[in-house]
Amino acid sequence: MKKVILDVDTGIDDALAIAYAIKSGQLDLLGITTSFGNVSVEEATRNTLQVLEVMDAAHIPVSMGADKPMARDHLKGKALHVHGENGLGNVELPLPKESKIEMYGVDFLLSKVKEFPNKVTIVAVGALTNVALAIKKDPDFIHLVERIVVMGGAVTVPGNVVPHAEANIYTDPEAADFVFQSGVPLTLVGLDVTLQTLLTKKDAEKWAQSDSPLSKFLLNISKFYMNFYMNENGLEGCGLHDPLAIGAVLDPSLMKTKPMSIRVDLSKELIGKTFEVNGETTPKIDVCLEVDARRFKEHFLTTLS
Ligand code: RIB
Ligand code: CA
Repeated sequence: MKKVILDVDTGIDDALAIAYAIKSGQLDLLGITTSFGNVSVEEATRNTLQVLEVMDAAHIPVSMGADKPMARDHLKGKALHVHGENGLGNVELPLPKESKIEMYGVDFLLSKVKEFPNKVTIVAVGALTNVALAIKKDPDFIHLVERIVVMGGAVTVPGNVVPHAEANIYTDPEAADFVFQSGVPLTLVGLDVTLQTLLTKKDAEKWAQSDSPLSKFLLNISKFYMNFYMNENGLEGCGLHDPLAIGAVLDPSLMKTKPMSIRVDLSKELIGKTFEVNGETTPKIDVCLEVDARRFKEHFLTTLS
């Protein structure tokens, strides 16, 4: 089984991604590291522990990571209108019985890639702060990790949090730019493909047919997320952003990728914009430009039904 660490800012679609990864039965989930974005890092850590407990998967270690962007003292606002006051669509879960582990998230990433050289894939579905700090702390990280699969960016399509930028990149643009230039093997699963995979009310109805606590939870958090997408964008479904990054690990044939040199705009006007540059000095990363959305959604829904 492929060894994986999820790096999350749990969030509704992060919760869906955690559930999908575990239920797939195809991944050896070594642990989950947390950061800020949709909510604070403390809330993301609590939410992650709660999701694991709903799934009877509390044995998976949760390690809290960075609490602020790499190069800025201030946090951009949380995304409470998208993910609810608690980050989980205001769906209340019992307080977690388990606690996070003591080790800092950045050190957890480093320790696992050293324990299993070239065998660990990191699926990063929040800001890239933890990954950037791991590379800064030990530049060998880029040779030890198998690959980083990143949910982030909008290379050929408009952004979501602002017209020019996607939320995860916008939350810590310096970290993202640093990681893209580091030479680490990286697959970018951006809005280019994730907005083609919308979960509709009809899809989510499957979860209404089951009484299991997990199905109820998935149904209720998705309803909140769908309402945001309908009210904000007039879309008949919510983007399966973070679950698609898991899909890219489970079955890379779902995607068509193109090697591209990508930088992040750090200017005040276009902060967080992902754009292609001449590849002579910037390493290439694999940018997902097409997805078999039907096949992905079928697998996602079957796995979680
Ligand atoms: O732009 C979508 C991404 O931003 C997702 O990872 C979502 O959870 C938020 O973090
Ligand atoms: Ca996320």
